[in-house]
Amino acid sequence: MGDYVWLDLKTGREFVVPIGAVVKLCDSGQIQVVDDEGNEHWISPQNATNIKPMHPTSIHGVEDMIRLGDLNEAGILRNLLIRYREKLIYTYTGSILVAVNPYQLLPIYTADQIRLYTNKKIGEMPPHIFAIADNCYFNMQRNNRDQCCIISGESGAGKTESTKLILQFLAAISGQHSWIEQQVLEANPILEAFGNAKTIRNDNSSRFGKYIDIHFNKRGAIEGAKIEQYLLEKSRVCRQARDERNYHIFYCMLKGMTPEQKKKLGLSKATDYTYLTIVSDSGHISMIVLMFTDTENWEISKLLAAILHMGNLRYEARTYDNLDACEVVRSPHLITAAALLEVDGKDLMNCLTSRTLITRGETVSTPLSMEQALDVRDAFVKGIYGRLFVWIVEKINAAIYKPPSTEPKAVRRSIGLLDIFGFENFTVNSFEQLCINFANENLQQFFVRHVFKLEQEEYNLENINWQHIEFTDNQDALDMIAIKPMNIISLIDEESKFPKGTDTTMLNKLNSQHKLNTNYIPPKNSYETQFGIQHFAGVVYYETRGFLEKNRDTLYGDIIQLVHSSKNKFIKQIFQADVAMGAETRKRSPTLSSQFKRSLELLMRTLSVCQPFFVRCIKPNEYKKPMLFDRELCVRQLRYSGMMETIRIRRAGYPIRYTFVEFVDRYRVLMPGVKPAYKQGTCQRIAEAVLGRDDDWQMGKTKIFLKDHHDMLLEIERDKAITDKVILIQKVVRGFKDRSNFLKLRKSAMLIQKTWRGYHCRKNYGAMRAGFSRLQALVRSRKLYVTYHVARQRITRFQARCRGCLVRRAFRHRLWAVITIQAYTRGMIARRLYKRLKGEYCRRLEAEKMRLAEEAKLRNQMSAKRAKAEAERKHQERLAQLAKEDAEREKKEKEEARKKKEMVEQMEKARLEPVNDSDMVDKMFGFLGTTSSFPGQEGQAPAGFEDLERTHRELEEEDLDEALPLPEDDEEEDLSEYKFAKFAATYFQGTTTHTYVRRPLKQPLLFHDDEGDQLAALAVWITVLRFMGDLPEPKYHTAISDGSEKIPVMTKIYETLGKKTYKRELQALQGEGEVGSHKKNSVRHKLVSLTLKKKSKITEEVTKRLNDGEYGLHGNSMLEDRPTSNLEKLHFIIGNGILRPMSSEMLHGFAEYILCM
Ligand SMILES: Nc1ncnc2c1ncn2[C@@H]1O[C@H](COP(=O)(O)OP(=O)(O)OP(=O)(O)O)[C@@H](O)[C@H]1O
Ligand SMILES: [Mg+2]
Repeated sequence: MGDYVWLDLKTGREFVVPIGAVVKLCDSGQIQVVDDEGNEHWISPQNATNIKPMHPTSIHGVEDMIRLGDLNEAGILRNLLIRYREKLIYTYTGSILVAVNPYQLLPIYTADQIRLYTNKKIGEMPPHIFAIADNCYFNMQRNNRDQCCIISGESGAGKTESTKLILQFLAAISGQHSWIEQQVLEANPILEAFGNAKTIRNDNSSRFGKYIDIHFNKRGAIEGAKIEQYLLEKSRVCRQARDERNYHIFYCMLKGMTPEQKKKLGLSKATDYTYLTIVSDSGHISMIVLMFTDTENWEISKLLAAILHMGNLRYEARTYDNLDACEVVRSPHLITAAALLEVDGKDLMNCLTSRTLITRGETVSTPLSMEQALDVRDAFVKGIYGRLFVWIVEKINAAIYKPPSTEPKAVRRSIGLLDIFGFENFTVNSFEQLCINFANENLQQFFVRHVFKLEQEEYNLENINWQHIEFTDNQDALDMIAIKPMNIISLIDEESKFPKGTDTTMLNKLNSQHKLNTNYIPPKNSYETQFGIQHFAGVVYYETRGFLEKNRDTLYGDIIQLVHSSKNKFIKQIFQADVAMGAETRKRSPTLSSQFKRSLELLMRTLSVCQPFFVRCIKPNEYKKPMLFDRELCVRQLRYSGMMETIRIRRAGYPIRYTFVEFVDRYRVLMPGVKPAYKQGTCQRIAEAVLGRDDDWQMGKTKIFLKDHHDMLLEIERDKAITDKVILIQKVVRGFKDRSNFLKLRKSAMLIQKTWRGYHCRKNYGAMRAGFSRLQALVRSRKLYVTYHVARQRITRFQARCRGCLVRRAFRHRLWAVITIQAYTRGMIARRLYKRLKGEYCRRLEAEKMRLAEEAKLRNQMSAKRAKAEAERKHQERLAQLAKEDAEREKKEKEEARKKKEMVEQMEKARLEPVNDSDMVDKMFGFLGTTSSFPGQEGQAPAGFEDLERTHRELEEEDLDEALPLPEDDEEEDLSEYKFAKFAATYFQGTTTHTYVRRPLKQPLLFHDDEGDQLAALAVWITVLRFMGDLPEPKYHTAISDGSEKIPVMTKIYETLGKKTYKRELQALQGEGEVGSHKKNSVRHKLVSLTLKKKSKITEEVTKRLNDGEYGLHGNSMLEDRPTSNLEKLHFIIGNGILRPMSSEMLHGFAEYILCM
């Protein structure tokens, strides 16, 4: 599975060859294969012979088909097909190029491609038309020999395109872009305009063969060219097959002409002309008339217009004297035609309707039948066009052809490009096909001779061991057609000149002469009008009708006469040769076939001295469609191109040979040390060294014989060797240049590097140093942290021990106290019990005593016994009374104990209950009441402060802010300048006015920078309020005196104002404190604790106020929790006023303020 095979379907059709296929499935003897076209086939075991294994070289295709293992038509066809599908249209067969028409523009003809292919050996690059052109050019220069390139193929196969591509390449690489080169290139469009037409097979079909010989000077620049034309299809001027057109020039002329020019020539639209059956746009061919003068152009146009007008002539049949005759219908066309040809209208009409015969010295005019007349007209028209075409070619040659210089040094070499129709075999083949096939037969022979015959001769001459191989030599066919006596062409010629000769007599002669020749196929019976020839590419049957007429290709004397009478110099010029000939000579003038034969011989002679290259163009399909490959059509073309023989011959032979001198000269470089001693031995040594001793190359007598691949190998090696030396020289020079450049660059680079590295390192170092600093900081902080924590732990442990010790001591103390209390209590209880028992005992004793006394007393009154009983009774009563009293007392005591116990329990319960803050505050501050009294003023005033005690009348809420009435006499005084109100409005902060308010201030009345000053001001205000009785004195009296009461008031003032204490402490606190609100708080706390030393004894209200920051009042011994006397207050207030650094007006204002208070 997956194997490639050849599948022979054995259809028996002529052009069907085995097709490549791949095995898809092998199932019980049946094999399923898919062929190259994608069709599936089942091969049964009995048909197993239908498939053959494929050679590996045929599977993926090769560039040179000589290397194909399956060297047969099928192999070649498949190779072309595979490559065509990959858009590889060119393939080699040795040095022959096969080109398959892509029918699309491929991007392989660019200037880059030209450069790529320049000066390359065949085989070094993928196959290309440029490679052929390049080899032509360099072989010409290298071998100093003329080259030719024979491009053949069917109509539409791409011959003309290939010719143009070669021309384009040669023009590009020949270096100079000269005027002459331009002219050579521009000749093509003119030739194509006059010689190309649209046919069903090709939209731009060349209807003539051409050989362009391009001449190069010694330097290889284009120096000139010569164009040879063959067999223009003149009949196309009068008649075209369906869907075909006349020559492009007619359409171009009608399209490109101005209306005035048209008017002059009497022309209108293309559709108006019988000769121009199909009209479509042909804009791509422009009428480039490079080397033509305006007059010539006009003359050409006139002739072309005359042709069109003649084509429109109408004939009417007549009968004169029982003879068929005709007349030209009078029409403007006739007149215009006559005018354009500058002949007499009547003469023209006579010419076209009658014929002058000279019989026995007399000239007799006989009328022409309508058919004959039409033939005469068409012949005239064809004559004009044919001669015009010849003239144009001559004209072009005159411009581009430069005769070789006579200077002996000026050698001229040429490359000839032959673009000629290939072998043709239509259903009906006429005289032209015979000529074409004859030409192809010649070319095939040339080809074969080149490839084989000459080679063989040379091999024999050189004593080369040459294995004879069989091949088809078409010499016999050529002999029969044109070489041996009584050949077909000469027989046709002879019959053409024979007045009574007809196509039938000609055929009979051919039959009788050649019927025994194997290459001749006579008609099967006497009615058949065709004969066959076995050409190199197959049998072709030729239809003999019209053979002689076509071959004669002469114009009647009348017409020549008419031209002679014309005043138009141009027409006379193109008919010059005919006019110059006499009537007799004209009769003997060469026929078409002999002319063609002669030019062909000339061509073959030219080619024979050239080194030839062959390009075989293949048309892949009839529809001008890209990527469509018609196998049968291609096989036919391959067969007609004579490819098979060439392959075998070339492969077997030695296509490359050099004389020893040439060889040593050329390949000496491959063996260093070889001197130019042109001996066979040297040559052999080089060949053995490069190609190997056993390879298939041979030494002749004067030459060495090589295969294509040897040549390629040698050339590549030579190129390599030369290139190596060139490179060595370049290396040294470049080395020197680059080294000095490099040193310069290196120096600069090092400088940049140095600077950059320095900068980079510094940057890195900075970053690292910063990093290390951070690391150090972290490590140090960590160390400190650890030390701190250890210390803290130790301290905490130490504290714990201390506290433990203290607690234990306190506990012991308490225990001792408890024990003591217990002892005393127990003692007390015991004593109390003892006391009670003693009392009881005493009372009982007393009662006993009383009984005894009573008994004694009663014994006086009554009997002893009775007295004893009576006393006993009273004694019992008293005892009962005592017992009752005891019981009551005990009960009372019990009740008291119970009450106490209950109270204790209640207190215990209250202690355990959760504390409600607000309740607690209410409870604590409930004594404040509403505004009736100030805290600290409830109850009795403490001892010594009774004088401050006064009754407060309840103040209304609004009264608080009410201004106290100022003394009236103040109003009378004009002190507006010093008005306190004004001062207050100017200096007091916030919303404070000059009026007295009975509550503490939030901020001092005046602005102070210093916090100590602010505190002092607030302290003064508090003292003022206290002095005024608007603020209560501190609630608790200092239990344990710290001696502050003994400090003189002035010291306190200084303390308050002095920056020493507060500021220093404040600063100290600020220094060690932390930032943010916490700092503020801690400062405040510190101040509070500093100022109000006995914290536990401050009123809770004040503490709260201070901590809440309601008042910015901190630290003042005046405001301590000790009530002060009015005198002290006054001292403090006044002292502050005196000592404060104030401006005069402030001082005044303050004094006034205090005074007003
Ligand atoms: N290499 C190519 N690349 C692209 N298109 C091509 C190429 N060769 C040929 N063709 C196409 O094929 C058409 C026919 O080519 P060309 O005129 O060269 O054929 P021919 O062999 O000269 O035919 P004829 O014998 O009728 O003159 C061209 O007009 C062009 O469209
Ligand atoms: Mg062509």
